Amino acid sequence: MLTTIKVLHNKHILLGVTGGIAAYKAAMVCSQLVQAGALVDVVMTEAAQKFVAPLTFQALAHRPVYSDMFAIPPGQNIPHIALADAADLLVIAPATAHTLAKLANGLADDLLSAIALATPAPLLLAPAMETDMWRHPATQANMEKLRAWGASVVGPAEGRLASGAMGQGRMVEPEEIIGAVRVALGRRGDLAGWRVVVTAGGTREAIDPVRFIGNHSSGKMGYAVAIAARDRGAAVTLITTAALPDPFGVEVIHLDSAEQMLAAVLEATRQADLLVMAAAVADFRPKSVAEQKIKKKGDSEGVTLELGRNPDILAEVAAQKMAGYGPQHTVGFAAETEDLLANARGKLERKKLDLIVANDVSANDAGFAVDTNRVTLLFKDGQSEALPLLSKVEVAEIILDHVKR
Ligand code: CTP
Repeated sequence: MLTTIKVLHNKHILLGVTGGIAAYKAAMVCSQLVQAGALVDVVMTEAAQKFVAPLTFQALAHRPVYSDMFAIPPGQNIPHIALADAADLLVIAPATAHTLAKLANGLADDLLSAIALATPAPLLLAPAMETDMWRHPATQANMEKLRAWGASVVGPAEGRLASGAMGQGRMVEPEEIIGAVRVALGRRGDLAGWRVVVTAGGTREAIDPVRFIGNHSSGKMGYAVAIAARDRGAAVTLITTAALPDPFGVEVIHLDSAEQMLAAVLEATRQADLLVMAAAVADFRPKSVAEQKIKKKGDSEGVTLELGRNPDILAEVAAQKMAGYGPQHTVGFAAETEDLLANARGKLERKKLDLIVANDVSANDAGFAVDTNRVTLLFKDGQSEALPLLSKVEVAEIILDHVKR
């Protein structure tokens, strides 16, 4: 179940549904948009109604469904003009080859194509068709035209098609369409033009080919920051050890160890405006990694691992900044189990941060693996702000608000 999503809240989204089997998945797109707080007006072509009944969308959107260009409700404006003017975004999912051809040629022979021509809102297309139709030069030329005119396109994906064949042409899953909607709506957000780098998850330090030393960090806080920054228009690189789904429209770098993370962070932040280090980086790693799996010796003999120090990534970033390149702003996290504020203030100073997010990880409703966090923000000018228990998504928004300010 989704909760309200800031970038979607009270946004007018026109969902155009055309005649393909993927029309049933458009119902899920509609439902998720509504649950996230958007106002969804659905416009169906005649062919779409052969696959799904308008009533399905009406029940999900709690608003009338439109399909007839000439049905003007009493006292209202012509629907294609009224809907076109109100829209923040026009999403067509699924978009058939036929609809794409009409859009690429400016045809307006039904309500949806007329709206597409009349609306100043950005256009997002989720094509769906058989592979040969997608690959046809006519469709490819139409797509090229539509992209050149500024349309965003999500998919099509590879997979099983309506015919039963496997190939490219499947509409992407609703979650991916929601991601693309958020990117399209966020394009003019307050972080447009920013390059943001976020780290997430706990590093894994290899002991042998099958074992590692890790920690309880789930990556949720870092992913929340990356997604919030993307929704506000930033170009985001997420450097992560976590196995969470890759957020749409974010460059994601998967890795394991602190050393790998250091190299990736230094590379990604050379031109960045902001680095948010939400990752829980191991301070120590096994001095040597066994080439083969370590075997037990005898019945009761233990094993001693010798650990060496890992680099401090934020300290290295600070050194890079001193040398004249590196992120404009740096935010760190302090995971503590005692003396929260004093320890966090020390880290803020040592690591030359603009802001540190102090986090008592011994509380069971905050910190690792849960969706909520209770943090205190400490700023480099000595100020601080204690936040109540909030979702990690809300904490992410507040961090970005402060950085932006
Ligand atoms: N951090 C880092 N490199 C490390 C360790 C931590 O860049 N080798 C970053 C974390 O991503 C976090 C901040 O530094 O943003 C503080 O991490 P934390 O683990 O709380 O602090 P440590 O520096 O490890 O200090 P201590 O072990 O004394 O708690």
